[in-house]
Amino acid sequence: MRNTFGNVLTVTLFGESHGPETGCVLDGLPAGFAVDEELLQADMAKRQGLPELSTARREADEVRIVSGLYNGRTTGTPLTILIANRNVRRGDYEELADKPRPSHADYTQFVRYEGYADRSGGGHFSARLTAPLTAAGSLLKQMLAAQGIRVGTHVLSLGDLSDRRFDALAPEISELSGKNPPVLDDAVMAEMKAAVAAAKAAGDSLGGTLETAVCGLPAGVGEPFFDTVEGHLAKAMFAIPGVKGIAFGAGFDFAGMKGSTANDPFVNIDGAIRTETNHSGGINGGLTNGMPVLFRTVYRPTPSIARPQKTITLSDGTETTLTIQGRHDPAVVLRAAVIQDAMTCLVIGDLLASLYGVNWLEKINR
Ligand SMILES: Cc1cc2nc3c(=O)[nH]c(=O)nc-3n(C[C@H](O)[C@H](O)[C@H](O)COP(=O)(O)O)c2cc1C
Repeated sequence: MRNTFGNVLTVTLFGESHGPETGCVLDGLPAGFAVDEELLQADMAKRQGLPELSTARREADEVRIVSGLYNGRTTGTPLTILIANRNVRRGDYEELADKPRPSHADYTQFVRYEGYADRSGGGHFSARLTAPLTAAGSLLKQMLAAQGIRVGTHVLSLGDLSDRRFDALAPEISELSGKNPPVLDDAVMAEMKAAVAAAKAAGDSLGGTLETAVCGLPAGVGEPFFDTVEGHLAKAMFAIPGVKGIAFGAGFDFAGMKGSTANDPFVNIDGAIRTETNHSGGINGGLTNGMPVLFRTVYRPTPSIARPQKTITLSDGTETTLTIQGRHDPAVVLRAAVIQDAMTCLVIGDLLASLYGVNWLEKINR
């Protein structure tokens, strides 16, 4: 089960960066849902990011659904997604066969798989594997949208620049759901482009944070004790390469707050139980409370940078220097919003399937 995620709705992932195909199998889907394949393809385009801010490796990323779909509708049997790797340059990675990149997964997977993994381009640990996950999550996003549940992620910060419109956890954060892909303020966008260009010119890379909101979930979703909404989401987020942290609601700011300001007072809005603030990020006791689920993730700066770096040889452990070739993202966070959405949708789909059963569509209690 190591490459399978989920309890009732499961996704099994396969492929390598430079192998012929990447893909995944979704099992436990509701039957009879009409899939809009154009929307899937549109999310694949979002994952590629803007050309000036992303890797020079461009792929067609054509999504082929080869099982589990009949006459445009899910059959309820395993749905297999295939995405071919076409723009492959193994030659760029030859030196890395013996010289692991600092802070990438080259060394760890060499040890874990006893030298047998196809590590070219990062192998199974490449962000290429997020292509099928994006397609799978995009399909779930359609199902959730049909139930009035919307998921949106935006870039909160890049390096030391932040999207100032979203600095505070504002009540109107539910607006986020309408901003996918993140529509950055023009001025912020210009600053971010300049920061990426400067980092690239210096042979360096940038980190950043993303913020996700899930709106329209009923209260009471989650599978405590262990598959809490936080726990299930965190596990999914840490599957995204480069994610190093996650915080829900007020997150680490709770440390400096008092109960009197941290608590979210209940209110009755036209018969609907809500809270005045949402420091809890829409989750109490591992269960949704009916407010938007809110969380932030942090992405490390891309490990593959152009500057010479210290490494060792895998063959005999000699300390040496590595200058990385190949095509890399200067700031992975700028491509990750749609991936984070997708992983979120897979988690929410699994939690709904756990609560209401495999055919959970139309069964959600409001
Ligand atoms: C969309 C996306 C694109 C990425 N592109 C690159 C890249 O071009 N070069 C690179 O070294 N790492 C890239 N990464 C990050 C690495 O895959 C990741 O840091 C590595 O697998 C190690 O995993 P970890 O950082 O989670 O420990 C990318 C990540 C994402 C989500």
